Amino acid sequence: MGLLIRNGDIITADKRYKADIYIEDETITEIGENLQVPEGTEVIDAAGKYIFPGFIDPHVHIYLPFMGTYSKDTHASGSQAALIGGTTTFIEMCAPAGSEDTLEGYKHWKSLAEGNAACDYAFHMGVTRFDAQTEAQLREIVADGTPSFKVFLAYKGAFGIDDEALYKILTLAQELGVITTAHTENAELVAQLQQKLLSEGKTGPEWHEPSRPEYVEADGVHHFTTFLGATGAKGYIVHLSCKPALDAALEAKARGVDVAIEAVIPHLLLDKTYAERPDFEGAKFVMSPPLRDKRNQAVLWEALERGDVSTVGTDHAPFDTTQKAMGKGDFTRIPNGIPAIEDRVNLLYTYGVSRGNLDLHRFVDAASTQAAKLFGLYPRKGAVEVGSDADLVIYDPDYRGKLSVKMQHMNVDYSGFEGVEIDGKPEVVTVRGAVQVRDGQFIGDKARGRFLRRETLKVAGG
Ligand code: URP
Ligand code: ZN
Ligand code: ZN
Repeated sequence: MGLLIRNGDIITADKRYKADIYIEDETITEIGENLQVPEGTEVIDAAGKYIFPGFIDPHVHIYLPFMGTYSKDTHASGSQAALIGGTTTFIEMCAPAGSEDTLEGYKHWKSLAEGNAACDYAFHMGVTRFDAQTEAQLREIVADGTPSFKVFLAYKGAFGIDDEALYKILTLAQELGVITTAHTENAELVAQLQQKLLSEGKTGPEWHEPSRPEYVEADGVHHFTTFLGATGAKGYIVHLSCKPALDAALEAKARGVDVAIEAVIPHLLLDKTYAERPDFEGAKFVMSPPLRDKRNQAVLWEALERGDVSTVGTDHAPFDTTQKAMGKGDFTRIPNGIPAIEDRVNLLYTYGVSRGNLDLHRFVDAASTQAAKLFGLYPRKGAVEVGSDADLVIYDPDYRGKLSVKMQHMNVDYSGFEGVEIDGKPEVVTVRGAVQVRDGQFIGDKARGRFLRRETLKVAGG
């Protein structure tokens, strides 16, 4: 049975027009005015609403064994929360520990998502070791449709890799046409500064930022981009948080290094004073790179508007307050992460578009289209075109409300954005033509989500 969405204002990364959209099975088959459709077609009237391409979160952690615990969402809770917030595809960081087998890790993450996700999903393959087997395993993973790697220059002793591994991974990535995403902080500097602060009795969450100052991230960006330049590989810097790191990335781009930049919602909206809140409240706001001095926010918004920052993700990493309490008396043991998968689109729309910091088309581009282009999904995803997957968000720009843990669907007992106003929200969300969210509620098929096999840059021509 077809689905017709009538009278909407279609907004993409580069177009705005009023038209009807007709969907058959999983695909958009017609776009035009006053479309005539077969009897029995379900019709949704989108008058007064925006129709956006389904949003893509390029950086989430759903299953994340990390810092002695596990993130709280399952693929069921995380994907349903994503959909309620307008995200129809997420790319999850598959992050086995350095002591674990890479291919086994990949299969494990895939098996957890299979049949349990309500939205579509893909993975960035975390490469946390590089031994005799790794190269062949990575070739197999890329051939399976996962042509993006993730490396951590941070997290010494856990996910972090050394320079030999970094060089070999990027050399392989260049050969295969794989984009390598990177967490760019100098791991040794973090480890040394953490020990120094602890030895001075500085143990609370407010010391997290001083243990990883801006120059530590800028150094990581410089290091990563130097290796990109040396190998000719394409890179993507995740969760870039501050001006010195941005400057280092833009300098590398100016030298001809092929690198894209991601910002994440917490860094755009929250600052380091949140992690300084008393009575250990600050632990809720511990993530890495840390929340920064507020002056960095305008720098990030401006870079986003210019397109120097390509994408906005979440780095969704949900640890509850009991887990955060593991770091009482030692901030280095607070599980790092802030939940946001449900809130990204509404916050970016509100504090970007609605409050005058971001062009409407750039919003769609940053929250959907650029991720599709960078990660081998375009125009199947990230577009409203005949032939694209019918992932659509019918968005009500007149909604006014506030975020709260009381209403959220992420499986975590706090909101990093408690009481924050939002100016708009998704009313209907479809995944490949199936209505998964109606009137802002998840009403769909809990197992609709599909693993997205993606193309390498060579095939996609990137
Ligand atoms: O604090 C963060 N970012 N937690 C998740 C792991 C990572 O570094 O992305
Ligand atoms: Zn990271
Ligand atoms: Zn992350």
